[in-house]
Amino acid sequence: MMQKIAVITGSHKGLGYAIARKLAQKDDIQVVLTSRKEQDGLAAQKQLLNENIQVDYHSLDVTSDLSVQQFTAWLQQTYGRADILVNNAGVNPTMQPEESSLLTVQIEMMLSTFTTNVLAVARITQALLPLMQAQNYGRIVNVSTEMASLSSMGSDYYPLAPSYRLSKIGLNGLTAILAKELQGTNILVNAYSPGWMQTDMGGANAPFTADEGAETAVYLATLPEKGAQGKFFAEMRKFGGAIALPW
Ligand SMILES: NC(=O)c1ccc[n+]([C@@H]2O[C@H](COP(=O)([O-])OP(=O)(O)OC[C@H]3O[C@@H](n4cnc5c(N)ncnc54)[C@H](OP(=O)(O)O)[C@@H]3O)[C@@H](O)[C@H]2O)c1
Repeated sequence: MMQKIAVITGSHKGLGYAIARKLAQKDDIQVVLTSRKEQDGLAAQKQLLNENIQVDYHSLDVTSDLSVQQFTAWLQQTYGRADILVNNAGVNPTMQPEESSLLTVQIEMMLSTFTTNVLAVARITQALLPLMQAQNYGRIVNVSTEMASLSSMGSDYYPLAPSYRLSKIGLNGLTAILAKELQGTNILVNAYSPGWMQTDMGGANAPFTADEGAETAVYLATLPEKGAQGKFFAEMRKFGGAIALPW
């Protein structure tokens, strides 16, 4: 059986690790766990091996052209393909006091948040897409947040988190544009909100685990042919199934 190759960005901890772990338990998927610091990724790989879950590992910093080039060359040489890309790596400066208002948010912070949450997704997607196009198969999952739904801008979120939310609106836009470009192909790109989870980013008070948040990513990463294209999904757990959110 030809295994599908699944790349998950920022997967040594948190949601990315949970997604990698779930996908790696499927017989027909070979997971490539990635992290920007090699020691983090190797430790995560070992942790999974202790559970008898086998994943491959390569370093990947999605904000670095060189790192993405080296990763893509390695992937091409090792597997000659890419079937699944989960754009999970992200940053969230929401706990900075300036992030409580658009009037105080620092432009530099907005820029660095965009660099990771939007531009880096464009970078790794541009790099891996030709491998998907070569076989007319691909599943791209962009990890967003319901806080980026334009219909939620009037909600009383505190802090208002302008850097984070604007960056995820950008990610949603990227998803919609890419879906338009991929129309009619068997390369499906979708975004989803994993919900508030207990990770380093979400903190200990979050109501859900990363494992629960990973469920929708697995669903979108394994969509059948003619499955959803260019949609924004809520976490399945909340609705007991796949429900599209308004952009
Ligand atoms: N937690 C929540 O409640 C929540 C809710 C909605 C959406 N999300 C989204 O879920 C995704 C995962 O978040 P999480 O909660 O698992 O947070 P997390 O535990 O902080 O993990 C973030 C991951 O992104 C990686 N990363 C950051 N910059 C990177 C870069 N330049 N290159 C490669 N990897 C990079 C981090 O690596 P390092 O350890 O090296 O920094 C880490 O592995 C994010 O996109 C986040 O916006 C989270």
